[in-house]
Amino acid sequence: MSSVVSKLVARYRYKGGIAGFAHDGDRPASPSASTAVEDLFWENEGPVVHKWHHYLPIYDRYLGPWRGRPVRMLEIGVSRGGSMALWRKFLGPEAVLFGIDIDPACAAFDGQAAQVRIGSQADPEFLRKVVAEMGGVDIVLDDGSHVSRHIRASLDVLYPLVSEGGLYMIEDLHACYWRSYGGGYRRPGSFLETVKTMIDDIHHRYHDQGEHIPATAGHLGAIHVYDSMVVLEKMTVSPPRHSRRGRE
Ligand SMILES: C[S@@+](CC[C@H](N)C(=O)[O-])C[C@H]1O[C@@H](n2cnc3c(N)ncnc32)[C@H](O)[C@@H]1O
Repeated sequence: MSSVVSKLVARYRYKGGIAGFAHDGDRPASPSASTAVEDLFWENEGPVVHKWHHYLPIYDRYLGPWRGRPVRMLEIGVSRGGSMALWRKFLGPEAVLFGIDIDPACAAFDGQAAQVRIGSQADPEFLRKVVAEMGGVDIVLDDGSHVSRHIRASLDVLYPLVSEGGLYMIEDLHACYWRSYGGGYRRPGSFLETVKTMIDDIHHRYHDQGEHIPATAGHLGAIHVYDSMVVLEKMTVSPPRHSRRGRE
């Protein structure tokens, strides 16, 4: 590991403990109108929720259409319970919200804004049990360990369980560049390398290498890549067709 990377990793504790990245600042002055999630985040006086500022409008964009509906959402990583409370306020009382965390202390938040179950995101049986209890899942938000092999283990189990038209969101993917999280720049096994393979998989009809990610094969409608966040749109993908219409 280069000395620069080791210094970064050593300084990284959790979201924003890196020199050069603003951390825990006040609400930035925004030239545009704020979004609903931004308002809920900045006005939060309940349990701590910890998010990078640039994620907030992304949540609005993807979660906004599910507001007020009985959406089933699973968040990996409960921590201090603040994000579950935020999703409850944003999505409304009809949402079926579950959070999972490996830390037994998070059980204290069970039954507050959401149901909380204790276990590892890398445990397939645990994940299947939670989704069965939820009655299925429409949205997964992975804000758990940020270790690439854990992210992949969760995706392998959970993505096939996401409903048609649902979303699979993974955040804090900057950790994919850090060795202690199983990452590294273009390092095989880093979850961002998996995402790059998904781009090839989406285009599998135009090359002869086939699809390499079984969990998403044939059911990946779109991949949205943001700084440190990826949003996968689950849909059954039909072979592309094209037509010519109009006068020659
Ligand atoms: C980044 S925090 C979650 C923050 C929370 N979502 C928020 O926005 O405030 C990450 C959480 O993932 C949990 N975690 C770490 N490894 C895990 C694993 N293997 N399975 C499930 N949760 C894990 C940690 O205990 C920690 O509470």
